Amino acid sequence: MKSILVTGGAGFIGSHTCLLLLKKGYDIFILDSFVNSSEKLIQKLSSTLEGENFDINEKINLIKGDIKNKDDIEKVFQLSFKIRKTIIAVIHFAGLKSVSDSILKPLTYWENNVYGTINLLNIMKKYKCKNIVFSSSAAVYQTKSKKLLNENDACNPINPYGFTKLTIENILKDVIKSEPLEWRIACLRYFNPIGAHEFGFLGEDPTSKPTNIFPQITKVAMGKYNNIQIFGSDWPTHDGTGVRDYIHVMDLAEGHLSALDYLLNDIPQILILNLGTGLGTSVLELINTFQKVNNISVPYIFKGRRSGDNAFVVANNSLAKSVLNWEPKRNLEDMCRDGWNWQLKNPMRFNN
Ligand code: NAD
Ligand code: WQD
Repeated sequence: MKSILVTGGAGFIGSHTCLLLLKKGYDIFILDSFVNSSEKLIQKLSSTLEGENFDINEKINLIKGDIKNKDDIEKVFQLSFKIRKTIIAVIHFAGLKSVSDSILKPLTYWENNVYGTINLLNIMKKYKCKNIVFSSSAAVYQTKSKKLLNENDACNPINPYGFTKLTIENILKDVIKSEPLEWRIACLRYFNPIGAHEFGFLGEDPTSKPTNIFPQITKVAMGKYNNIQIFGSDWPTHDGTGVRDYIHVMDLAEGHLSALDYLLNDIPQILILNLGTGLGTSVLELINTFQKVNNISVPYIFKGRRSGDNAFVVANNSLAKSVLNWEPKRNLEDMCRDGWNWQLKNPMRFNN
């Protein structure tokens, strides 16, 4: 039986991807330290998959462990051999992702993201598993103008988080150079994933206070905060607020399945692909759509620009569309409706 190892599979994007892997018939190993997620994943996946004709407990091995610890990773591969579920590929989500935190704690970010990935690659090599899909980020780019970002545009991150992602991409390039006929690698540069699976069991459930715009909007809508602070009303955009490429987390998860499928059926190579919608949405447009779709008020106030922000960060997604035969299917209204549905059904992290 062939299996996939999903590091960080209990997190926001990982959990949605695990759902699709299970639906596609894969057995999965999930290695997660739960530093930014919880062990309730199996329950959430079970509820989402109710009615499917397979026993989820037979298909998932959820292991608490840290990629900073090589032994934790090796134990998963040993288990896979013992129970004869060979790991044929890894989808590597495990990582710390807060830009602001990475500026305060750069060593923690370098150790977790880069050293953790080196451990993972060493163990993969040892066990001859050389297929990997890696979570990269739009944070690797040097963003300057209103132009859509292409994969071959200049990279020059402005924070430690973005640097860890670019460094991992570079490590992966070196790895394939050393064994060009063996590795199949996809670096997927995500733009701004939001929303949740439509049933409302899986969603973004961090253990600490999120700083991204979408969780702020849902918290204001819940009444936790009085208003959203919009960082800047004088950006060179059509309404003065920052423009981003929001992508539904289910579309992103589908992109991973397509990338995995492509890698496993093609020649050894490294792919670098943007996963975004190619559509720009301003902060005001996002808030207005959320209010309209969910019929709820989200008060906001304008503040000064946030340091390190850009006016416009939007993907050119044509390469991913053509290579992977994938395209985002859900629109901004779907993202706002599904994200709010999840927040309403899961108020437990309300204190974050
Ligand atoms: P998340 O925090 O919800 O998920 C990451 C998971 O990794 C969590 O479950 C966390 O507990 C786990 N983890 C972290 N460090 C670990 C370690 N050392 N060992 C084992 N597990 C560990 O984040 P997400 O939004 O699902 O992001 C997944 C990946 O995608 C991350 O690598 C992130 O950097 C990247 N990414 C996210 C975004 C975004 O906006 N959400 C955008 C671009 C890239
Ligand atoms: C979006 C817009 C803000 C909060 C970050 C990372 C990126 C990726 C996604 C991981 C901007 C504005 C925000 C608020 C606001 N993550 N905003 N008030 O900064 O585009 O991207 O998360 O890889 O790498 O950099 O996302 O959601 O923080 O901001 O006005 O309270 O919302 O100025 O225009 P960002 P974000």
